[in-house]
Amino acid sequence: MASIPEQFPDPSLSRTYESILDLIGNTPLVRVNVLARDLPASVYVKLDHFNIGGSAKDRIALNMLRQASAAGELRPGDRIIETGQGNTSIALALAGVIGAHPSTVIAKPDLSPEKLNLLRMLGAATTPGKLDVDKSDPEHAWVIAERHLAEHDGLWWPRQHSTASNPDAHYASTGPELWHQTGGRITHFLAAVATGGTVSGTGRFLHEQNPGVQVIGTTFDLPSKPWADAALNKVFHRAPGWEDLDPDWPENIDLEQIDALQARTKEEVIDFAFHVARTEGLLLGPSSVLSLKVALELAGSAQPGDVIVVYSADHARDYTSAEYNEQWLRTNDLGHVADRWFGSRPAT
Ligand SMILES: Cc1ncc(COP(=O)(O)O)c(C=O)c1O
Repeated sequence: MASIPEQFPDPSLSRTYESILDLIGNTPLVRVNVLARDLPASVYVKLDHFNIGGSAKDRIALNMLRQASAAGELRPGDRIIETGQGNTSIALALAGVIGAHPSTVIAKPDLSPEKLNLLRMLGAATTPGKLDVDKSDPEHAWVIAERHLAEHDGLWWPRQHSTASNPDAHYASTGPELWHQTGGRITHFLAAVATGGTVSGTGRFLHEQNPGVQVIGTTFDLPSKPWADAALNKVFHRAPGWEDLDPDWPENIDLEQIDALQARTKEEVIDFAFHVARTEGLLLGPSSVLSLKVALELAGSAQPGDVIVVYSADHARDYTSAEYNEQWLRTNDLGHVADRWFGSRPAT
């Protein structure tokens, strides 16, 4: 059980950095104390929102820029064009500032004001596009990106959903950090899946060290993701032929590295996020809480000595105008969640 520490950390451990990009990776691993108190396994959270841009995506942004520059695909002064959901856009815009690459972000309509304003602060241009329409729709961000590339020179689109430099970033950094931080004792790794880069790259490294490590992808049961439906229907537990279940898996998922995929509803995860904040003081984005929820359920039937690591991709602060906002909850049919955590009187 943790308690208030009596001293500040040893000042001789503090370091000085030459560039903000040196502040990517080597993020802390912190024990979950209260929520895991009576469980046989230890549960830790890898706080990747400690990366300088505030999310896991700093790792891949740095690697995508580095590898594309080395391959001559990204030339000096080229503009980065990005179609992600916010975190990757911020990470690329930030690295682009240091590398002297301006950014254009094809932003989805519901990109949070916090993220949009950060992008503007970093000087990124934004133009509208959608991610929740068919991939052939002219309004889909990827179609718009292809159009820009066809019409203009000097543009570079990293394609995080398919480039190997995405999972490779986690293979080269996240995996080795976790192996080091747990002294090789990690038995389970859980991370939310979008492009699949985190689970695939980290999983590849961990499985190379110990094939017995369980790598578990987590997802919300959004109807827009057929592969999430597959998880919900529990067809994804290495049943024979499961690789062929759905042709629409994210391209960067290496199914060989994923031992199971677990889905939870957004409602139960948002609700749990408040509980996590008020028991552990851990302020985690919804995808991180999703993985933590699955991990704590799993830890109940784990072996003594098991070391379960949950990956935290971003901070709760990025969601205070939406999922973690009382008014938002009340206008999105989650008034009962708002009642529970804010009291039953509507916000004024
Ligand atoms: C907050 C958050 N969590 C999890 C993920 C999933 O990471 P990956 O794309 O590596 O599967 C992302 C990626 O977009 C993310 O932004």
